[in-house]
Amino acid sequence: MLTKTANSGTGGALVEDEPRQGKSASVKPADESRTAKAVPKSLTIYIDGEFFPEAEAKVSVFDHGLLYGDGIFEGIRFYNGRVFKLEEHLARLWDSAKSICLDIPMSRNEMTEALLETIRQNDLRDGYIRLLVTRGVGNLGLNPAQCKRASVIIIAATVSLYPENAYRNGLTVVTCATRRTSPSALNPAVKSLNYLNNVMARIEANLAGADEALMLNDQGNVAECTADNVFIIKRGEIFTPPIHAGALRGVTRSVVFDIAAELGLKISETDLTRHDVFVADECFLTGTAAEIIPVVKADGRVIGNGKPGPISTRMIARFRELTGETGTPIFP
Ligand SMILES: Cc1ncc(COP(=O)(O)O)c(C=O)c1O
Repeated sequence: MLTKTANSGTGGALVEDEPRQGKSASVKPADESRTAKAVPKSLTIYIDGEFFPEAEAKVSVFDHGLLYGDGIFEGIRFYNGRVFKLEEHLARLWDSAKSICLDIPMSRNEMTEALLETIRQNDLRDGYIRLLVTRGVGNLGLNPAQCKRASVIIIAATVSLYPENAYRNGLTVVTCATRRTSPSALNPAVKSLNYLNNVMARIEANLAGADEALMLNDQGNVAECTADNVFIIKRGEIFTPPIHAGALRGVTRSVVFDIAAELGLKISETDLTRHDVFVADECFLTGTAAEIIPVVKADGRVIGNGKPGPISTRMIARFRELTGETGTPIFP
């Protein structure tokens, strides 16, 4: 049974790429036209069956999600009153849970209802959901057997990862020295709360003044970026690294496969090197927050003619049509 508590205080839009400052989550939207509200209002957050105003939404310091990054998450978008690819995100969440032996304390139907209700409580039609399942409260030892029950947290907010001109002009990426975690250590296919590997890569991109970091695996092949899958286009064909190269099985990545099939474009999974990226005609990244975004420079090499290419542009256009037209309705 879902309950709602009084919504007090001020807070507001979550911008995926910006730190939340102090108590209020008020951050400057990167793109005014695609985000909400001049006056940010407090978010209503779901924690284990109850709703809390943002300022009162708290978890125990003994939750192993905090102590050890022991837990899993999903980032999900909703557009125009519909949640995009909800079933796919929940399927991946359940796969991640199985992989780390975590019991999600609710059914998939209950999760769907909790998620939709959280969006309704926040009165949003377009935005971003952060869904977390933590190992729950234990003691200071890392043994998860100490944690009796996993916790479910759902945050619905607005998002704007990149400004609109980044979609028109493209991003710059650098290859970072930090290698993507080996699948034999912690498989990147598990969307775990342990993102320090990605954070370290992101720091390298920041220090280099680039928009994103290209992460290689232990073999020196491209794995993915810090929060996005990577695609290149060469002579009209699309290529992306296989999951076993150390990538998350991205939901947006699979939408690109669908769109390619629809447009009659050849697409394949293959090992890619930095060289392949440098000499590509086009390159783009995919992720729930970033959507499909072109890359025009990698390690100082201009990709193609330095402008988003025709296939990337068609992909973005079709993707935007799909996000606007399909998905699970939020308001029945
Ligand atoms: C490491 C990583 N790779 C790729 C992706 C893209 O996956 P998706 O399209 O499902 O958001 C994400 C984002 O969730 C990510 O965190």
